[in-house]
Amino acid sequence: MKYSLRFIIPLAVALTLIAYAVIPLVDRLTLKWFNRDLDIRGRLVATTLEDSLAALIRLHSRPKIVALFNRITQGERLFAVGFCDPAGKLIYKTVNYPALARCKPANTPSYVLELPEGALHIAAYEIKDQAGVLGQLVLVHSMNFMLHRSEDSRRYIFYLFAGLGVIVSLITVIIAQVSWRGWVSGLRALSKGEGLIRPIAHFTSPPELKPIVKDLRALIRDIETDRKARDEDRIAWAPNALKEILRRELSGEEVLVISNREPYIHTRHEQHIDVQLPASGVVTALEPIMRACSGTWIAHGGGNADRDVVDKHGRIQVPPEQPAYTLRRVWLSKQEEDGYYYGFSNEGLWPLCHIAHVRPIFRSNDWHQYVAVNRKFAEAVAAEAKTDDPVVLVQDYHFALVPKMIRERLPQATIITFWHIPWPNREAFGICPWREELLDGLLGSSIIGFHTRFHCNNFVDTVDRLLECRVDHDASTISYQGKLTAVNHYPISIEWPSRWAQQQKPVVECRAEIRTLNGLSPGHRIGLGVDRLDYTKGILERLHAVERLLETESRWVGKFSFIQIGAPTRSSIEHYQHFETQVRALAQHINHRFGRDDYQPVILKIEHHGPASVYAYYRAADFCCVSSLHDGMNLVAKEFVAARDDESGVLILSQFTGAARELPEALIINPYNVEQCAAAMNLALDMGEMEQRDRMRGMRGLISEFNIYRWAGRMLIDAARMRQHNRLKQRLREGSDAS
Ligand code: G6P
Repeated sequence: MKYSLRFIIPLAVALTLIAYAVIPLVDRLTLKWFNRDLDIRGRLVATTLEDSLAALIRLHSRPKIVALFNRITQGERLFAVGFCDPAGKLIYKTVNYPALARCKPANTPSYVLELPEGALHIAAYEIKDQAGVLGQLVLVHSMNFMLHRSEDSRRYIFYLFAGLGVIVSLITVIIAQVSWRGWVSGLRALSKGEGLIRPIAHFTSPPELKPIVKDLRALIRDIETDRKARDEDRIAWAPNALKEILRRELSGEEVLVISNREPYIHTRHEQHIDVQLPASGVVTALEPIMRACSGTWIAHGGGNADRDVVDKHGRIQVPPEQPAYTLRRVWLSKQEEDGYYYGFSNEGLWPLCHIAHVRPIFRSNDWHQYVAVNRKFAEAVAAEAKTDDPVVLVQDYHFALVPKMIRERLPQATIITFWHIPWPNREAFGICPWREELLDGLLGSSIIGFHTRFHCNNFVDTVDRLLECRVDHDASTISYQGKLTAVNHYPISIEWPSRWAQQQKPVVECRAEIRTLNGLSPGHRIGLGVDRLDYTKGILERLHAVERLLETESRWVGKFSFIQIGAPTRSSIEHYQHFETQVRALAQHINHRFGRDDYQPVILKIEHHGPASVYAYYRAADFCCVSSLHDGMNLVAKEFVAARDDESGVLILSQFTGAARELPEALIINPYNVEQCAAAMNLALDMGEMEQRDRMRGMRGLISEFNIYRWAGRMLIDAARMRQHNRLKQRLREGSDAS
């Protein structure tokens, strides 16, 4: 219907134009040209005849004159000839001379006489000789031949314009069909910016537009990135800014977070229940956000008193001192926890993604538990959601299947999945027996976030290799089973200003306290490591470097100690138990080798430390060593910088952390290179105050700008834009369905 209209309308317009404008115009022009032509011809005839006619007139030779007139009217066009004397009386004429063709004053313009037999063109020309004017020769031309010609022209013109009309109509239809959908929706999409974050799923640009579409898209993406960066720079990233974004961009929208580790763990002691903040990067990052934006956080209730403090739905308002959001606890049986958490997540995916040379273990029983627990969490999300299109923030490798499961329950939800650990290259990931299932689950997300562009590329590459999908490498989007997922990098950060840093005593006091606590003399130098006791953190490598330092720089023996805080973690896993044994043994070996009765070069503190205590250590240290063998970001590095408002202290940072890309002012090391690490420790201990300040200022400047609120804000803004695009697309779709 649409296309037949597109054909008929231009054709009707063309025909109307022909009838009412083109043909009358052509008629008028043809008449004008013929009249002029006849005038010229008539003058030529009169000039040619003038001498002989004048002579015959002087002789009054009527038969000869009439014979002459008859001879020249043989041609089809000259219909009749007459001659008028100077008094205007017709004295000679051919027989068919029309009675109405009267004599006229000489040189008056020619005129057309309409008779029933046809139109006649009548013109008079003066005839003279040396003696003077003899009269006028009147030439009467038939215009019938001209009318024939005019009819022919009309016919040709009609056919010509009608043909053109048909061609134009056909072109319109073809353009409408081929180009309209492609070009116009493509350009419209680009103008809306949809092609920036991702190409529209159904939009494929016609080949002739491909080069400019690519350039245009790249250009718009650059402009968009610039604009975003400028917009972001203008915002003072604090809890209120985040609240404002939620109000402005996601007003009234519901935010749900899902993570394995809960932000508050209730633990029963003999007489009382206490609340702990776990040593988890995810919790450190998300807790301030949830305080800012309320909503519901769904997590595994792992504390032994967790059930005692919740309502019948497993909910509790937190933080305990000033409730701001809901924590919904999900209960897991021992079997579920063993299979899903210890097994598949931490013996399978964790070593798979961290290239730390620990072999991943994949058991099918663990996998089944992983699937079941993922489903349990997805159902909890569906149960907690009060709207059908909440914003759901899925955290980490424990929940690779959850995005798709949520999508099935809440198709309109905006699902942002953040993968807090590295994503390995496609060959490394490819060894997982359930690799396709994991990717399929993750691609239920609207956005998948990683800390670095490098990990995004690894992910896109893996998906490209293992799944049937369309990848737009420029836009970093994946179109899979008719759905689009954007893959972006959002480097995670910490709260700034840090609440824990602000609660601290002055640095001098912290130093004194920590030294006293650890039996160290006032001038004793301190190196610090703060980690979960995990083999990916490079703790053994770090201790080897301490040993090498004391070996090569004996001046530090007795004057320097390395304090390693190690939060016990995943202790049911054999590899972690073994790792702890190795750490203890190495520390003992170094202490044995370089220690004395009153001196311990390595002080191991293998127990949970709350943030207040950890920040006191940060402030007391001369340097902090982060030597991860592979780490998505590593927030210890950022926390150490945040703790040092005195602008001193040195950060030694592994090149294999995401943080190293943001903090080049740190002493960057390869943790596998023991000599280099020992040299960095030596350099840190010798570094002058000025250099320490310069480096620390640079790092503090960056973290203050790129804090945790910005991390969350950027994701939420992207989610809000995506929702707007989708709603607009939905409306356009409804509009075009209706038409
Ligand atoms: C890493 C992971 C987090 C996890 C944290 C603590 O940072 O990315 O998801 O919460 O380690 O690990 P745990 O197993 O103790 O929760």
